[in-house]
Amino acid sequence: MASIQSKDPVPSGEKTFFGHPRGMATLFMTEMWERFSWYGMRALLVLYLYSAVSDGGLGIDHTTAVAIYGVYNAVVYMVAMPGGWVADRLWGARKAVLVGGVVIAAGHFTLAIPHSAVFFLGLGLIAIGTGLLKPNISALVGDLYQDQPSARRDAGFTLFYMAINIGGLLAPLTVGYLGEHVDWHLGFGLAGVGMSLAVVQYVLGGKHLGDAGLKPTNPASHAEKRSALNRVLLWTGVAAGALLIDVLLGTYDIEHIVNALAVLGVVVPIGYFVVIFRSPKLTAEGRPKIVAFVWFFMTAVLFWMIFDQSGSLLNIFADEKTNRLIGGWEFPASWLQSANPAWVIILAPIFASLWVKLAQRNREPSTPVKFGLAMLLIGGSFALMGLAGAAAAASDTGKVTVFWLLAVYGVQTMGEMCLSPVGLSLSTKLAPKEFISQIMGLWFLAVATGNALNGWATRLNEPLGDSLYYTLWAVVAGLTGVAFIFGARKLRSLTGEVH
Ligand code: PHE
Repeated sequence: MASIQSKDPVPSGEKTFFGHPRGMATLFMTEMWERFSWYGMRALLVLYLYSAVSDGGLGIDHTTAVAIYGVYNAVVYMVAMPGGWVADRLWGARKAVLVGGVVIAAGHFTLAIPHSAVFFLGLGLIAIGTGLLKPNISALVGDLYQDQPSARRDAGFTLFYMAINIGGLLAPLTVGYLGEHVDWHLGFGLAGVGMSLAVVQYVLGGKHLGDAGLKPTNPASHAEKRSALNRVLLWTGVAAGALLIDVLLGTYDIEHIVNALAVLGVVVPIGYFVVIFRSPKLTAEGRPKIVAFVWFFMTAVLFWMIFDQSGSLLNIFADEKTNRLIGGWEFPASWLQSANPAWVIILAPIFASLWVKLAQRNREPSTPVKFGLAMLLIGGSFALMGLAGAAAAASDTGKVTVFWLLAVYGVQTMGEMCLSPVGLSLSTKLAPKEFISQIMGLWFLAVATGNALNGWATRLNEPLGDSLYYTLWAVVAGLTGVAFIFGARKLRSLTGEVH
């Protein structure tokens, strides 16, 4: 990661945003508000799903609520693949981001309607909109820095990462408070207001983006459009048919949808890798790189599977087993969802300068070692959770101090610093050229698959109990970390010059 302030001069006469192109201000504000709406909604999601109907919630049991959360996250990031396709081949990134933003806002406002019947419709809209917006706004950031030195481009992405986390920090404090303490739907409504601000900002600031993303990079032919449409119709038909049969047989259960989507989350990347390996365009030179990439990918899946339990099991731990009293006032559980973005804002500059210092001494860890460290850290955070669980069980009140979760999130964020910034650039370097347009999607797919698995993994929580459950995953992550560090040399030989 580089520092935010760009050190390279901007062409004279041009107004800048912290030394960056003006268009960056537009993308910064758009992404900040979009993430505000997403993380605000996400902070409330599980709490709303499992709260009793008498408290305005949906009264779904804990395990199912947590599984719905995991699978929903998976769907949102899986839609990034077709979202990237729409921009590359049909609309261009500019239009995809705009349409995505409007659809997301419509989704949040649907959640604001106080009726459970429309709840899943709202979630569906947010998923489609996010698939259109999230990968393509990142691509627009890349476009703004085309032909610019890579350090400046890195600084641009670091600034963008700050936008993500400022939005993520503010959302639980406001949306979470309104949702938990005033009214769930008002909270969801505020997320919608945030997203609307993103759209306004994007439209008003569009003039600063020049012609970035105005046209599809690789327009689809008429026949390609038709075949894509046929495939969408076919698969939608198959899914709707299966659902209809399930309902008619009287066997329908929300678990069926959760399981089907979780299977999809695992099958899609496997299918994707099979296609890459079978591609005649994959050279003998490219093959070992993909083999290495599969290892990185699987590790990232495990990382996100553990990491994204923050919005589900850890959110519930905050709600039920954490003492949140400050001077007699109990702050909302969702506020702890602000801990990760707050830690990012504190730690990102420290890690950035740490890597630079180590690099100056030629001692910056290689990518596989960073991945190994990320696994040790995420495992360490769950080892802490295991202790927190034991402490809660042993305490009279059944609750522990808030410092446990703050520390857990701190350690997780250090893991994020080792894995997240290198992941995307790694995908860019390792994937063959023919697949380049879908690489952003491939990286999001690791997050998606992690979350799909998380829908199953979290089912062990109830039978095992907190301390055993968290310790189990700590051990799995720890062993993976150690294996990665030991295998670093081998992986580097597979990736060739890339490390
Ligand atoms: N905090 C990151 C974000 O919201 C998490 C993330 C990483 C999401 C990688 C997708 C892919 O953007």
